[in-house]
Amino acid sequence: MKRRSEEESVRDKLRESIIGLGERSIRKSYYPELQQRIAELERANADLLVEIAERERAEQVRDQLEIQLRQSQKMEAIGALAGGIAHDFNNILSAIIGYSELAQISVRSSCPESNCHVIMDLQGVLQASARAKNLVKQILTFSRQQTGDRKPIEIGSVIREGLKMLRSLIPQSIEMHENLRFAEAVVLADPTQMHQIIMNLGTNAYHAMRETGGILGVELDQVFLSRDNPQVENLHLAPGPYAVLRVSDSGTGMERAVLERIFDPYYTTKDKDSGTGMGLAVVHGIVKSHGGYIAVTSEPEHGSTFQVFLPLVVRQGSAESDGTMEKIRGGSEHLLLVDDEKAILDIEERMLSGLGYRVTAVSKPQQALEIFSHDPNGFDLVMTDMTMPAMNGAQLIQEILAIRPDIPVILCTGFSEVMNEEKAKGIGVSQYIMKPVSRLDVALAVQRALGKQAA
Ligand SMILES: Nc1ncnc2c1ncn2[C@@H]1O[C@H](COP(=O)(O)OP(=O)(O)OP(=O)(O)O)[C@@H](O)[C@H]1O
Ligand SMILES: [Mg+2]
Repeated sequence: MKRRSEEESVRDKLRESIIGLGERSIRKSYYPELQQRIAELERANADLLVEIAERERAEQVRDQLEIQLRQSQKMEAIGALAGGIAHDFNNILSAIIGYSELAQISVRSSCPESNCHVIMDLQGVLQASARAKNLVKQILTFSRQQTGDRKPIEIGSVIREGLKMLRSLIPQSIEMHENLRFAEAVVLADPTQMHQIIMNLGTNAYHAMRETGGILGVELDQVFLSRDNPQVENLHLAPGPYAVLRVSDSGTGMERAVLERIFDPYYTTKDKDSGTGMGLAVVHGIVKSHGGYIAVTSEPEHGSTFQVFLPLVVRQGSAESDGTMEKIRGGSEHLLLVDDEKAILDIEERMLSGLGYRVTAVSKPQQALEIFSHDPNGFDLVMTDMTMPAMNGAQLIQEILAIRPDIPVILCTGFSEVMNEEKAKGIGVSQYIMKPVSRLDVALAVQRALGKQAA
């Protein structure tokens, strides 16, 4: 028995050593191939990880692009709707402003004391109308129907002016820290719209710190966006130097859900008296139409930073000074006025005849053309509305200029996709004015158009 077990254990040992020998020889013969295979598998694994990360990044970019696209389609649709409403409202506003100004003139002659209630009430109507006019302008800017009056401006000085206005509106509990580098950098922009950006971002920052007070930071900087910058690629921006306006606050900050909707028109978290929800939609519209973009970072309880990027004009030039206000001057020339909106025609006729001009006012463009063609030399100037049934202002102007190419023409329009100042000048218009027009606008346009003819 004992012998048997000894035999077995010897056999086991032998078996083990044979297996060990086999394994060792297998390992020896396959070792380099195995090593190679392991290395290959490790490489493949690393490649796969890179591929997965790239795919995730691509998906993120695609998601971002989709969000941007949806946002811009939404903005476009709302813009078209808002633009249409603004157009009609503009006409109504023209009537309100015009009649109030005329009423003021009539009352002034019978009620010369400066504390006359009627004059003061009318002043109130005009002030409210000026606010409404501004709102319409904001809506038109947002709907990108109006590009504004662009010229090369030193961005720093416009920001400084805007900040002065802002400072007067916000309480001392808000500290303002200004750091404007590269202030003399030049952008091609409408100064009023730049002020609007400052005011809208600044007011939001103030609202976010209203309860607590805090610091409102305004910085101006310059960056170069290269061709491979993701924003340049995604938003189809022109590569080159950009001014960066940074407006930051130490206020409430925003949750992600709010952050996603802040540029939507009429989106507001404020009560009815403090916000309309148009502020950032307008800023977005302005920045986009200037070829720039806007970025936001924010964290609840840790404030927010808005960064506005605007393309710089590479050729540096000095800012144009604003034109000096010309004085209203009338004349005795014979003017042909055309507008299908009776109230506006009536107002313009009274404004101009009040300044001494002889005015023939007609509400139908066809009839105006007939009158003009009977006596082309009997008129010194034609002023027409753009959007009219049967024949629009541009067509009427073409017909009139075909009869008498030297007659000055003023095109007066509220809103039009097919017309802008450049196109208007292209068809021979001497002056182009946007509704709602005030007495001063009309008087100056007529004066300039007639002056141009004399020159
Ligand atoms: N700096 C900020 N800090 C915190 N929340 C902000 C800030 N800026 C904007 N928001 C949020 O975005 C919303 C939309 O802002 P937006 O300026 O468009 O409209 P509003 O300020 O509500 O109204 P208004 O038309 O008067 O500007 C605000 O209601 C607010 O919730
Ligand atoms: Mg706002």
